[in-house]
Amino acid sequence: MDKKTINILAIESSCDETAASVVRNGREILSNIISSQIEIHKKYGGVVPEVASRKHIENISGVVKEALEESKLGIDDIDAIAVTYGPGLVGALLIGINYAKSLAYAWDKPLIGVNHIEGHISANYIEDKSLEPPFMCLVVSGGHTHLVYVEDYGKYEVMGRTRDDAAGEAYDKISRALNLGYPGGPKIDKLAKSGNKEAIYFPRAKLNEESLDFSFSGLKSAVLNYINQTTQKGGKIIEADVAASFQESVIDVLIEKLIKAAKLKGCDKIALAGGVASNSKLREVLEMKCENNKLLLYRPSPILCTDNAAMIASCAYYKYKNKEFADFSLNASPNLEIAKS
Ligand code: KG4
Ligand code: ZN
Repeated sequence: MDKKTINILAIESSCDETAASVVRNGREILSNIISSQIEIHKKYGGVVPEVASRKHIENISGVVKEALEESKLGIDDIDAIAVTYGPGLVGALLIGINYAKSLAYAWDKPLIGVNHIEGHISANYIEDKSLEPPFMCLVVSGGHTHLVYVEDYGKYEVMGRTRDDAAGEAYDKISRALNLGYPGGPKIDKLAKSGNKEAIYFPRAKLNEESLDFSFSGLKSAVLNYINQTTQKGGKIIEADVAASFQESVIDVLIEKLIKAAKLKGCDKIALAGGVASNSKLREVLEMKCENNKLLLYRPSPILCTDNAAMIASCAYYKYKNKEFADFSLNASPNLEIAKS
């Protein structure tokens, strides 16, 4: 096989997806296996960490085996083993890390530790093979809301972040209040299509004009208060209108700050990443805004927005090129920060 071809087998187990993938040269997916635990956690209304760890243990061997088989590669063709080591649930992370370490040891391959958020950003390299830094990326997931300036591969500057709830967390909480179930993002996304986004005005937390940070807890309280007060007065809650009005408030703020950050850095490329990036309204409105502002928009297809291991393999490829290898002391880092420049 051509020496310039680097195949990386990656494992992702930071939350409720057990995933493994083989990616060639950081951009081409040879396999992408995801075993989701959503059905199990649904009945609890959210992810139960202990249950997630147990399920990862049950699933990981099968998922990794399938990823290798589907890639049609042999062990000798794999150049490195990559794994998410944070941020995430400590027990869940440890399952993936220990599995990856065992493979690296048994197969005598280098080990690469990857930051989950940097992985989300890298999903854009798979989706659009021509994308090169610099670009401005909005990472919006269940656990994170970050505005990240990607200066180069592996070189990031966090321009803004949430001070309280993550955007996805807000979707999940409002969904629960409306009895729509878990995960809330896709449910609200769908329901909002039939609602009136101007029916209720919910606040936009801009913080101060200068700040690129976000805050969603005030919005969450405003929606919950609206639901409680309307119910107490015997009024009727129109769920689709609440969903559309809530979503409008989230998207307004996300897009305004994303475009502001891009302009600040003089970027003409904007990217989305993370589970909330698959939101249809966010994509639709941002497409329009980017066109108006002459910005190029990059967004991964929905399967690459939510947790997967292909994004981890892509991120690992650039670490491989820089010889950024981990040793067997690699440990879970539940609150891992995004790398500083
Ligand atoms: O990136 P991800 O799979 O996991 C984390 O790293 O957190 O993101 C999951 C989050 C959940 O909060 C889910 O409700 C949200 O992404 N989500 C969405 C949509 N699809 C998933 N939020 C809004 N609209 C969607 N279509
Ligand atoms: Zn994620």
